[in-house]
Amino acid sequence: MICCGRSVFPLMAVVVMLLFPLDTFPLDRQASIIPKPVQMTFQSGLFRLAPGTIIVADSAVLAEAHILARELEPATGYWLEVKRSAVSGAPRIEMKIDPTLVKLGEEGYRLTVTTKSIVIRAPKAAGIYYGSRSLLQLLPPEIFRQARVSGVEWTVPCVQIEDYPRFQWRGAMLDASRHFMPKEFVKKFIDLLALQKMNSFHWHLTDDQGWRLEIKKYPKLTEVGAWRKETLVGHLEHRSSTEPKFDGIPHGGFYTRDDAREIVEYAHERHINVVPEIEMPGHAQAAIAAYPELGNTATRLEVSPIWGISENIFNPKESTILFLEDVLTEVMEIFPSKFIHTGGDEAVKVQWKASPDAQARIKELGLKDEEELQGYFTRRMDEFLTAKGRRLIGWDEILEGGLAPNATVMSWRGEKGGIAAAKAGHDVVMAPTDYTYLDYYQSKEASKEPLGIGDYLPLDVVYNYEPIPTEIPADFTGHVLGSQGQLWTEYMATPKNVEYMAFPRLAALSEVTWTPREKKDYSEFLTRLETYLKRLTILDVNYRALDGPK
Ligand code: ACM
Repeated sequence: MICCGRSVFPLMAVVVMLLFPLDTFPLDRQASIIPKPVQMTFQSGLFRLAPGTIIVADSAVLAEAHILARELEPATGYWLEVKRSAVSGAPRIEMKIDPTLVKLGEEGYRLTVTTKSIVIRAPKAAGIYYGSRSLLQLLPPEIFRQARVSGVEWTVPCVQIEDYPRFQWRGAMLDASRHFMPKEFVKKFIDLLALQKMNSFHWHLTDDQGWRLEIKKYPKLTEVGAWRKETLVGHLEHRSSTEPKFDGIPHGGFYTRDDAREIVEYAHERHINVVPEIEMPGHAQAAIAAYPELGNTATRLEVSPIWGISENIFNPKESTILFLEDVLTEVMEIFPSKFIHTGGDEAVKVQWKASPDAQARIKELGLKDEEELQGYFTRRMDEFLTAKGRRLIGWDEILEGGLAPNATVMSWRGEKGGIAAAKAGHDVVMAPTDYTYLDYYQSKEASKEPLGIGDYLPLDVVYNYEPIPTEIPADFTGHVLGSQGQLWTEYMATPKNVEYMAFPRLAALSEVTWTPREKKDYSEFLTRLETYLKRLTILDVNYRALDGPK
């Protein structure tokens, strides 16, 4: 017998190495970085994190170094000192800005792990941060535990990674209007986006069911508009056959200006841009409930307790446009984002058709109809934001009344809007319902899932989404900035509900927006996802297990 005694182990190791090329070596943590890096080559050997390990950082990336030190401390119990220059021989993590790596782009990085050091080099601080996200995912998943872990060796496999994103817009939208989401959860959500190297947090702050941002000049927006007396129970469809049922429970909440600034700062440290959304002219009922003069009728409105599309939209008077400019002025004081989202979706024109004021406005402006009036409305906002050095982004309905010259389109009703806008030379963010609406069910058997809005969007469909439609000519594909997942919260009353709908589909979307198309492979993603889900468990994320609700 040749396979006997102790000699079997080296032989087995050789067989395993031959079966699995090094960069797919199935060790628990070795190939489990999400999103998958562009290039990754494992070598033999391990770097061992130890109490004396130091972090050596350039002055431009001290913030990134301190974030990493803070992240490594709870589980390991090691407080890694951050220094400006290396002490010779000490095991170290180096973070270095390296202008020669400019070919990796604004967010790319190179991570080199040897037995003696971990070196992250990048042309910009964002790349250093993303390198450190990969580093965290090369460590055992227990690194994410917020309390001391014993019995785990804090080792990192020797590896060389060269990595950069495919798209510049990688993100998620969180609707904090339909259900208010506490500030601490918003931070946790931002941390999760950052772990996946996503860089855009679109914060849906106003809608019919609640206005969530304090505006100093118009205090009633939150005194009145942030609170509804109750919420619909079950689905809207129930209304057709029976009387709607309400829960009788008041719901509300809002972010003070300081809260919002704190979120912006928190996101900024994690290289995430916060894109605020202030809806207009539709989805405005909460604002009209606060300031009735913004509406089209004399009816006194309440903050909406039901879901769906409300006919109560802003009136198109000059005074309303000036009110919205005031609101956007305060929004720009809080949010440094280049992009400001002004909604634009589902503005039904029933009231504009019936309103003498709106009709007079159409005449006065020489417009054809109500769609052109919305086009005018959006153009005014576009001019206002452009003059302040910002850029308007809106849902694809903003195409309908003639696209404002500097507007960027968020394509949600399929890809059509995105294709038309890109062909016309406008930037677009792809957010089509069929691939990115994370409020859709994760199983065909909806009855076994928590109540949702409807429809079906499984993980593999999200994973295999291709954000550049073939209909966009090659010269114009650069206008596709990227993609994002949508978390509309009509049926997500709590952060735990949001987590269930967001993960793991948002992890799949991180790979759609980061990883080169030809490197994506769904079954291999599922292998890495096993480890990723361990991390999410440790991070107390209520993700949906692949085999259904727990
Ligand atoms: C949308 O889903 N109404 C943008």
